[in-house]
Formats: sequence, structure tokens, C-alpha cells
Amino acid sequence: MVTGTADFVVIANRLPVDRVTSPDGGTMWRTSPGGLVTALEPVMRRNGGAWIGWHGAADEKLKPFVHNGLHLVPVHLSEDEVAEYYEGFSNSTLWPLYHDVVAPPEFHREWWDAYVRVNRRFAERAAKIAKPDAVVWVQDYQLQLVPTMLRELRPDLRIGFFLHIPFPPAELFQQLPWRRQILEGLLGADLVGFQMPGAAQNFVRLVRQRVGHKTHRDMIYLPDGRTVLAQAYPISIDAAGFEELARTPEVIARAAEIRESLGNPRTMLLGIDRLDYTKGLRQRLRAFGELISDGSLHVDDAVFVQVATPSRERVDQYKILRDDINRLVGRINGDVARIGQQPVTYLHASYPRAEMAALYRAADVMVVTPLRDGMNLVAKEYVACRYDDRGALVLSEFAGAASELKSAYQVNPHDINGMKSMMLAAINASPRENARRMKAMRKQVMENDIELWAANFLRELTLVRNPHAKNPRPV
Ligand code: F6P
Repeated sequence: MVTGTADFVVIANRLPVDRVTSPDGGTMWRTSPGGLVTALEPVMRRNGGAWIGWHGAADEKLKPFVHNGLHLVPVHLSEDEVAEYYEGFSNSTLWPLYHDVVAPPEFHREWWDAYVRVNRRFAERAAKIAKPDAVVWVQDYQLQLVPTMLRELRPDLRIGFFLHIPFPPAELFQQLPWRRQILEGLLGADLVGFQMPGAAQNFVRLVRQRVGHKTHRDMIYLPDGRTVLAQAYPISIDAAGFEELARTPEVIARAAEIRESLGNPRTMLLGIDRLDYTKGLRQRLRAFGELISDGSLHVDDAVFVQVATPSRERVDQYKILRDDINRLVGRINGDVARIGQQPVTYLHASYPRAEMAALYRAADVMVVTPLRDGMNLVAKEYVACRYDDRGALVLSEFAGAASELKSAYQVNPHDINGMKSMMLAAINASPRENARRMKAMRKQVMENDIELWAANFLRELTLVRNPHAKNPRPV
């Protein structure tokens, strides 16, 4: 008999905090990187329940604990599993494959074996702690096998899955040697959520073609009588929380201090990203560098602040990127800097939320130009912090956020000339024009916040569906 304690369970690869060891050997908790944690933390605070995830350190078994009011259940990963499941299959196979193969994905059978093993561990942990008939919400590409594994252990549960990154078209997904297992893994959920309608359509089409189930629009009919719904739920942020933070006297003062220490430039441009090859940092910095070197912008007038949060640092493609960006920043600054006047300020570090809010407030132009991105919450955070209706957002067409933030200065990040002219347009637009754009974007972001996103998904998930009466297709 099942005797769990939680009636709401979130499962994600990472807990909202990482266990880190300081140079003096002590350990402490630090906020985990990435948009998933930013988005889900307020959801957990509102709904209670338990959060199952890895605590970021290898070979360390920890007991469940409460941190800042959240009930956290750590899952242990060995050193080999970090290399094969996390750095390997999750971040060197699935991550590039799902992001339009902007880097070549690698396929290794032993990585797949580790992925299966670790997904099973997460499923078993959830099966133990969920109360009868509980709601379990599985997050992201690292855990796509969990829904079916969990359903086999606990058919009483209501299981949702949300993919935070893009889901690729069939032409790319089909490269994956384990494509059918991944699709079947996801089909254990009652509701599979995606950032964009196109991603949900890609999934349904693949299920029809590769698994052979009947489908109708966003509904999939399984041979056992269950139905699975695949729909888009564009994720958001705690918009009011960000605005509130941006309005505090400390953040306002810090924003002024930042501008002061940059020499009070006429224009401050800002990029904030995890240091990831999907984020388009190379192209963006090149575009800015050319604007300075061809004289469109003057080194006395414009400063680009790029924050790049360290990420997946042992993965080869990330090491290459780190070296490339170091070189590129060095080259731009070397070519055009003057004493006391450096065009690019590059910060390879992560900062607390209040510092980010101060940067958002200080920046005249926010530049968010990923080559492919599921959503991009940095763009929404910037908009939420600009309650003064000032500032401008340059945004890639290939970020999920582009379909909501239509008044941004939208760019194709592969088109360096196009980016240069959009950056100039954003810099030179009248305050009136930028206020008009910002107002429209703020309406979108403030009305569609993370609370509404979670409420929509969970409402749909808890709607009980009767078994369908369709004849399954022979498989
Ligand atoms: O949404 C993308 C994502 O991979 C999340 O799953 C993750 O929490 C975040 O980016 C940060 O990545 P990582 O956990 O690999 O540092």
C-alpha cells in the first residue's frame, strides 16, 4: 500500500538550491541557475508540496530537508551519472538536438543507459512520497522517461509534464536512436505541456508517425483507453515580484551606481544569459563591436554590459564557447577601447536577483538574441522591471518570448547587419516610441504571469477525463 506524504510533487533535474563547497571546505546553499527555478519557485511557495531534484553535488546522499519554507527531496547522482546522464545525454545529446542542432548532438549508448537509470531513480522517489491520487508535475528534457515509469509504479497519480525548451521538428528528432522510447516515456503523462503550439504539434505528429497512436488535433488516444493532451503553455515569471524589487530604493540607488561606474554613458546596452552556445553571444557581441568600429556608435557614448552566468562548465562545447567569448571581448576592447573607456564590460559570474533588477533598471537597451530558446525569461524580467516605461528590448525571433513580446525590436540573430540596424533603431528611437512599445509589452507580461501559467496547466491536468472509446490503431 502506498503511504506518501505529499499531495503535490514537482520533479525537476535540479532543486532550487545547489550545495556548493567554499574554498575553506565549508558547504552552503546557492540558488540554482536557469529560468526553470526562477519560474517554479513561486509556484511551489503557493501550492506547497515537495520538490524532488538533484542538489548539484556528485556522490552525496542527503536526507529531505526544508529550505526557505520549501520541502526539498534530494536525489543523489554519482560522479559517472553526472558525466553520462547530466553532462552527456541531457546536455550533449538532447540539448543541442532540441535547439535546432546549433551544435552537433552526440549519441552514445552508455549515456542513454545512464539516462534510463537516473530517470528510474527520480520516478521511484516520486512514487514513494506522493499521496494516493496526488498530482505530480515532471519538468523538462532531463526527465522525459519519468511519466511512464511513474505511471507503472503508481497508476493512481495524475501526472503532468512540461518541457521548458523547444521540441524539435520530426526531421531533427528522428536522428535520435532512442526516439520511440522518449515519445513513449512522455505518453505516461495525462497532459504534456510545451512552450509553443508548434512544439505540441511536432510532438503529436511524431507520436502518430513513430508510435502509431491515433491522434486528433492536440489529443492522443492510447490503446489502453487513456488520452494524453499536448498543449502550449508559454511560461512566465513572478512579474509583480520583479516590479516590486525594481521599485525598492536599494535597487534604484544601485542602478544609478552602476551607470556612474560605467562613466554615465549615453547608452547602456545589456545582455544577461547563461553562458550557452544557444544564446547567440558571439553574434551579438560582433554586431556591437562593428557598430563601434564602423563609427555608428562612439566609444564615449555606448557601453555593452554582458553578464554570462557560468554553466555546464565541463562540457566541451561550453569550454570552447567560454574561450571564444573571452577572445572576442578581448579583441573588441583591444581594438577600440581608450584609457578609461572600455566598450564591453564582460562579467562571467552569477548575481543575486536584486543585482539583476538594478542592471535591468540601469540599461537603456536590453539585448536578448538567442539562436533558439524555448521562452527566455530574461526578456520578461526586463519588461517587468521597467515600470517607468523606459528602455527598449532587442529580441530574437527565435526565442519563444517573441510571439508574446511583439513590440520588441525583433531580429534574426544570424543576420549581423540586421542586428546592427535594430540595435541602432532601439538606441535612437524617441522616448515616446519606446514608451509605446514598453507599455504594450508590460501589459502582456504583467497580465500573463507565472501564477496564471501554473493555474492554467494544473486546472487542465486535474480535469478528469473518461477513457476514450476509439479503436486503437494496430502498432
Ligand atoms: O530550461 C532549461 C534548463 O536546462 C533547465 O532545465 C535548467 O534548470 C536550467 O536550464 C539551467 O541549466 P542547468 O541545470 O544545466 O545548469
